[in-house]
Amino acid sequence: MTKLGDQVPTLRSHRRMTQSELAAHAAIDADTVSAVEAGGGTITVLVAILTVLGAKVDGHDPTELGSWLRNARVGKGLSQQCLATKAGISKPTVIGLERGRGHVASFTAAVNALGVDIRLDLTLRSATALRDVERDKFAVVQGDAQSVLSEFPDHHFHACVCDPPYGLTEYPSELVNQIVATWVKEHDFDFSRQRSYLNADWDGGLPQPSTWRQVHRVLRPGGYLLAFAAPRTADLLTLSLRLAGFEIRDQIAWITTNGMPRTQDVGRMLRRRVMRAAVKDVQGVDHDVQHRHGGEPVNLARRRYPVAGARMRSKYTVHLSAMHSSFTLSRDNGSLLATAAEWDGHRAALKPAHQVVVVARRPLEGLLLDNVMKFGAGTLNVDACRVHGEDGLHRYPSNFVGDIGPEFAKHFFAPRATSREKDRYLPTGMINSHPTVKPVELMRWLVRLVTTPGAMVLDPFMGSGTTGIACMSENRQFIGIDMKDEYVEMARCRIHGWR
Ligand SMILES: C[S@@+](CC[C@H](N)C(=O)[O-])C[C@H]1O[C@@H](n2cnc3c(N)ncnc32)[C@H](O)[C@@H]1O
Repeated sequence: MTKLGDQVPTLRSHRRMTQSELAAHAAIDADTVSAVEAGGGTITVLVAILTVLGAKVDGHDPTELGSWLRNARVGKGLSQQCLATKAGISKPTVIGLERGRGHVASFTAAVNALGVDIRLDLTLRSATALRDVERDKFAVVQGDAQSVLSEFPDHHFHACVCDPPYGLTEYPSELVNQIVATWVKEHDFDFSRQRSYLNADWDGGLPQPSTWRQVHRVLRPGGYLLAFAAPRTADLLTLSLRLAGFEIRDQIAWITTNGMPRTQDVGRMLRRRVMRAAVKDVQGVDHDVQHRHGGEPVNLARRRYPVAGARMRSKYTVHLSAMHSSFTLSRDNGSLLATAAEWDGHRAALKPAHQVVVVARRPLEGLLLDNVMKFGAGTLNVDACRVHGEDGLHRYPSNFVGDIGPEFAKHFFAPRATSREKDRYLPTGMINSHPTVKPVELMRWLVRLVTTPGAMVLDPFMGSGTTGIACMSENRQFIGIDMKDEYVEMARCRIHGWR
């Protein structure tokens, strides 16, 4: 007799996931996972769980559960009513199940009434990836990093070079406390409600220790992990890595000149607020302000800089020279406006001119030399990364790279990603729409730094595949993972072309 939920714990243990890790990835709670594993819950939840686990239903995608049932019924020559009677459920329930809706218990009853078996299997994405690497030196895999990595054997990679989501959003201290408390209990924090400034569905949170634990497991002892981070959230990323067992060795500063400050002038904001209040009042809210020179109320709120050209005429009167009109403001708003000048030029952030690359390492087993001999990992490839100055000197690489003036350029390595580079080798009609593409030269330097030729490199957050391109150019092998189909396709084309 088939019991669908029964098979979930086996699949989960193959994926090395706890109930709460699975729950966090499927955006449900751990009790719901328990309910499904006990044969309860809804089809929608079961499908979400199977999707996270990367399981197939008799070789089909879990979202096709409903059509699987319909085909099985039609194959047995039964009507919906007939199946309903045999299974002891109603006909509308059968109709719902065939549309992928309803309860797992009813679905199980219908499957048993049909007298067929339903098998959930795991497709080993790692097996396909390893075969592709053998043939092409690289493989790209679509899926959640933690779930895909759970299929790989221990110690498979020499290094991990990656650019994970930065999770750039607001972090009030209560939120930070909750995140840290959740991580310390070895649970995943639910980042699903966080929106990042990129407004991308993958950038609302930071990778959790549970994902980094998988990376730690598949890395060789002494294997380096390089992860890009924003200065504002590098602390959380670093903590997440530490909690997963990594040691933090250093931080590389990557200097960039094209970042834009995302902040507004406080004096200007203050004027805008006063004038918005004024407009509201002119439109009859509380007569706080009178429109002195008649005519229609002016919609200042629509103007980007509503008080351009404004100046104080009397204590509480503002003259808008651009509009030949003036307003008398309430005492409070008038004094606020007077204060605005004091705050001109005050903003809440600096221009972002560097990003961080966290340098972490899976701890050595024993002494450095023994670890290197046994696992072929644990060192930085300094000579392969020396900076070649125009003066002929090959300088020791430092933890500072970037786009700097010519007078200092001889000391530092300074790569840039151009749009030509981003789109290179993409088929006609496809453009690299990824918002955070890194320069190939920079990634080559990082790959060289932490590996030797022939090494196996991992990027669990591959995006459009720049780490993979770097690996091909430096004669390393590469496996990249990304949750988004479109990025995986882009990465495949780019890496293949550069190879
Ligand atoms: C900052 S981007 C990497 C960009 C890359 N450096 C490039 O040059 O194109 C991070 C990527 O991680 C992916 N991602 C986020 N969370 C993921 C997860 N849990 N599993 C797999 N990929 C994930 C996103 O889809 C995104 O493409």
